[in-house]
Amino acid sequence: MSTLGQKVIYQLYPKSFYDSNHDGIGDLRGIIDKIDYLKKLHVDLIWFNPFYKSPLNDNGYDISNYKEIDPRFGTMADFEELVDKLGEAGIGVMLDMVLNHCSTEHEWFQKALAGDPYYQKFFYLRDPKPDGSLPTNWQSKFGGPAWAKFGDTGKYYLHLYDPTQADLDWHNPDVRHHLQDVVRFWEKKGVKGLRFDVLNVIGKDEHFVDSTNIEEEKALYTDTPIVHQFIKELNQATFGRDPEIVTVAEMSSTSIENSIEYTRPNDHEVDMVFSFHHLKVDYDHGEKWSQVPFDFMKLKRLFFDWQNKMDQGGGWQALFWNNHDQPWALTRFGDPVNYRVESGTMLATAIHLMRGTPYIYMGEEIGMIDPAYHSMADYVDVEAHNAYERLIQEGHSEQEAFAIVHSKARDNSRTPMHWDDSEYAGFSTVNPWLIPTDQRQINVENELAHGSIFNYYQRLIELRRTEQLISEGHFSPLLEDDDQVLAYERYLADQAERLLVLNNFYGTTTTVTLPDHWQGRAVHKLIANYEEEVTLFGDQVTLRPYESLVVKG
Ligand code: GLC
Ligand code: CA
Repeated sequence: MSTLGQKVIYQLYPKSFYDSNHDGIGDLRGIIDKIDYLKKLHVDLIWFNPFYKSPLNDNGYDISNYKEIDPRFGTMADFEELVDKLGEAGIGVMLDMVLNHCSTEHEWFQKALAGDPYYQKFFYLRDPKPDGSLPTNWQSKFGGPAWAKFGDTGKYYLHLYDPTQADLDWHNPDVRHHLQDVVRFWEKKGVKGLRFDVLNVIGKDEHFVDSTNIEEEKALYTDTPIVHQFIKELNQATFGRDPEIVTVAEMSSTSIENSIEYTRPNDHEVDMVFSFHHLKVDYDHGEKWSQVPFDFMKLKRLFFDWQNKMDQGGGWQALFWNNHDQPWALTRFGDPVNYRVESGTMLATAIHLMRGTPYIYMGEEIGMIDPAYHSMADYVDVEAHNAYERLIQEGHSEQEAFAIVHSKARDNSRTPMHWDDSEYAGFSTVNPWLIPTDQRQINVENELAHGSIFNYYQRLIELRRTEQLISEGHFSPLLEDDDQVLAYERYLADQAERLLVLNNFYGTTTTVTLPDHWQGRAVHKLIANYEEEVTLFGDQVTLRPYESLVVKG
């Protein structure tokens, strides 16, 4: 069995992977049809975004029944077949556990609404303030207030996300027991991995108070001490009993200190965390819905800080550029027009050789980029539409507002997987729920026949399995002041051999002076995105546009 550090995880967005029954929506049978493709990458696990019963207001993150498959995605029998067939291919299934909130269509919420006091204690129901205003001034993460009217009871319920996603009150032990039961239900079906949605916001203070700014507000419900306690309990009651299960928790606006605590093996919480600070380096003063070039030095400092401190503290990170909530990294941090292959493989190198467990989001391995949409009608996501409205209200022109949404919308990465160059990208035979735009050039068929990105990912995955420096090594930053190159080293306790990773983040050539201990050293090239052997270093190394060079020596 591979160790945590040797594993690579693929993320698959079922709604957009492959549509087997021609309704424009990807489904479980579609995934089964494509297992041969999935096998090629040789990943250890696949994390699936939710396909449970749901009104799909937030694409399945609004679950109305935790133990059923939504008919649009298939049946329980399809799911079981998927687990079996992936298992035969040596791939484990990682499921998404959305336990912070459930859909307002869930029977718990419906019973609560109907007046059942037992279920009313499942949610955060509060009276308005004496002046009739909302219980607190908190904002929903998708825009608008975080409180909505609880039927005609005069009370309000808390929703940190969409109004149809009601936050569950984890302070109630019965809620925790029900949720633990959900986790065990899927474990019994042979699931080998669990991804916990927004897990660090489950410990809201029961005494709701107003906030004076957004940072203070987040602190009121994020990473509170009781979250650790809840996770430990969940661990003991469920996955902690099975050493084979891999766990990752999505942590919204978390800190390094907390992330160490969440993941130190002896604390028995989770194996690793997703944190997002490195994906906010193109936010203008912290505002996502803005358009500014990414701040490379900030990105570098964040990587170094997290890698260093997580290493020193014995924590473990999930490594990723892309997921279903982010625009494509290749469009954001690379050059999709002039250097799609070079910048795509450079970004992959930069992240895959760090300390942690890499995640590949479907389509990344063929170099997919943001779709060329032309109007708001092309977007589906509630968040994108709310943001557009707000930008207009704030005085942006329609053109500006659209340009901002275009660059940041979550739908960017939710467009269907490009299988071939046909009208619907080989994803479906009918118009898909989101339309593909660049499939003529970027598609699986093309990539496997003539491309080099997929093959590069295969090699990165293989290297992690075979090179202990990558799977177990410590991390140390290099060339900290260089404003174009991300460089670091990996080394093991014996210090015998080291790994040097150099990544040029821009489309211009640059020369760096190597640290003393690499100058004049005999090296062995492990992987690079330009041809050419390197066997002996001088004092300097010249890197071409978006060049990555990885050597051992
Ligand atoms: C996470 C999911 C996102 C979802 C949100 C609310 O951030 O990744 O897609 O909208 O949680 O469940
Ligand atoms: Ca379908």
